[in-house]
Amino acid sequence: MQTAHTLDVLRTQVAKLREGGDTVGLVPTMGALHEGHLTLVRRAREACDHVVASIFVNPTQFGPNEDLDAYPRQLEVDAAMLEAEGCALLWAPNAAEMYPDGFATNITVTGVSEGLCGASRPGHFDGVATVVCKLFHQALPDMAFFGEKDFQQLAVIRAMARDLDLTRPHVHSIIGVPTVREADGLAMSSRNRYLSDTDRTAAATLPRAMKEAIARIEDGQEPAPTLNAFEDELLGAGFDSIDYASLVDSSSLAPISALTGSAARLIVAARIGGTRLIDNMAVSA
Ligand code: PAF
Repeated sequence: MQTAHTLDVLRTQVAKLREGGDTVGLVPTMGALHEGHLTLVRRAREACDHVVASIFVNPTQFGPNEDLDAYPRQLEVDAAMLEAEGCALLWAPNAAEMYPDGFATNITVTGVSEGLCGASRPGHFDGVATVVCKLFHQALPDMAFFGEKDFQQLAVIRAMARDLDLTRPHVHSIIGVPTVREADGLAMSSRNRYLSDTDRTAAATLPRAMKEAIARIEDGQEPAPTLNAFEDELLGAGFDSIDYASLVDSSSLAPISALTGSAARLIVAARIGGTRLIDNMAVSA
């Protein structure tokens, strides 16, 4: 596996990979890789001739009181994991390479970015949309792979790519890959490592209680009281607060008060021991 730290090297290496018409799949990450990321790499390998993974802890998507400094960084460990999965090229720019002096452009996707995490993390999705747009232009992939765990992020990226005509000729497919979970159901996340043992055990209440709430809503119970009871269960299990627990339309991410016959999603962000966990699951209409 080659590693590129500068855009010039990345472009040269990507051009080599594309020789003979070979296709390239991009897996954008912020490092601290886990099985969820490696699943994205495997999907990319199945679909494309070569995989380029990026590791960049993007400062512009962190709020002033968020965990930018504490975010785990382990480039060598991550590089070894990517190499073992058959990744061809690692793109690991530093902040000055990504945001040179005078950088002044910001991409805002309205609508899907506004509620849910957008409400509790102002500016977060501008940071994501801007850096992902840059990553697409830098690596010129045929396909890009993102986890469905960040369901709203995926919707924002799809909207950005559609609106800015990034889907052709370069990133003609943005592929959402189902969430990978620990044995007890907790969605894999680089932030799970912040949890104490007690909080880690309690955190498994989140996916379990989500499944139970979904079963009740699918059985015809009213969503609003079901979600109130769901929130009480999380608080009772040791969660400190719930940012949101919403039943939303899967495409628009607009809250819905009842199942409408189109695809719906239960989407949650909750805090435990100072760590913010997010999760989402499909709800059958
Ligand atoms: O999901 C992530 O790890 C990040 O938000 C992404 C897509 C790599 C952009 O920095």
